[in-house]
Amino acid sequence: MSLHRLASITIGVPSPEPVRSFYRDFGLAETEPGRFESADGGEQLRIEAAPRRRLLALAIGVEDADDLGRVAAALAKLGVAAERSERVLEAAEPITGVRVRLAIEPRLAQKPPPPLAHNAPGRTQRTDARSPAVLAGASARPRRLSHVVIASPDAPASKRFFTEGIGFRVSDEVPAIGASFMRCSTDHHNLLVQPGPVTFLHHTAWEMDDLDAVGRAAAAMIGADATRHIWGLGRHGVGSNYFWYLRDPAGNFAEYSADLDVIVDDEAWKVAASSGAHPLAAWGPPVPRSFLAPDDIAALARGAE
Ligand SMILES: [Fe+2]
Repeated sequence: MSLHRLASITIGVPSPEPVRSFYRDFGLAETEPGRFESADGGEQLRIEAAPRRRLLALAIGVEDADDLGRVAAALAKLGVAAERSERVLEAAEPITGVRVRLAIEPRLAQKPPPPLAHNAPGRTQRTDARSPAVLAGASARPRRLSHVVIASPDAPASKRFFTEGIGFRVSDEVPAIGASFMRCSTDHHNLLVQPGPVTFLHHTAWEMDDLDAVGRAAAAMIGADATRHIWGLGRHGVGSNYFWYLRDPAGNFAEYSADLDVIVDDEAWKVAASSGAHPLAAWGPPVPRSFLAPDDIAALARGAE
């Protein structure tokens, strides 16, 4: 695949200060005011002032100039204007206004965490020793940006821009919520566009080492401020990842994620359309209403008029 990485995102919020403080607690390193690095992914989050909370921009890593040429041609076919230089192509998604920047950059190589010995019925991997999971320190840092979910008042048109224009591939669909899970890397999903009355950022997700890291990091966030908790711990039915969602002071959700499905062979992966009452979670607490429809949607919609 020519697109190989969701490199970074820029979020706009009315009051950046408390939001920046939240993402420092979340485990990202603030290198300059409003600029954050993950442990492995370099600078992956910017927080800027904006009238309403929303995703302002996302950046994607591509292989070479041919990829930029292909995307430029595809966008032209859709009637979307793009700016092109030797190593970069930029275009705005017409419905949500999200600025998309494609840049030629190397693939990200990550070092795996040390293997954790697990005991299970009939399988003993760890004897005469406590699990390192209980001995680990309190900190568990996000390794890298995993995915971002936005709402669009015309989700099919936004999806067309990202698939037919930019070159995202669809991994799975959830017709019940009108959502397509799309990837620009081997991750099961890097982007999801869902229908909404107004454009807003639903959540960002950050890759953690494993289930313990998800639990440890979320517990620390909630220990400091219990009102941050939204939904978790659980395991998604689509993408298979463990999840725990928190809410930042602007109302954006931030997800700790681990063990997401990885797609390296497009032919081997079968796109599925999920059905059933709760396609979102294989297990976990009931989905809170405020997760499906954030409490500030009406206010956001009024502000957009
Ligand atoms: Fe997610």
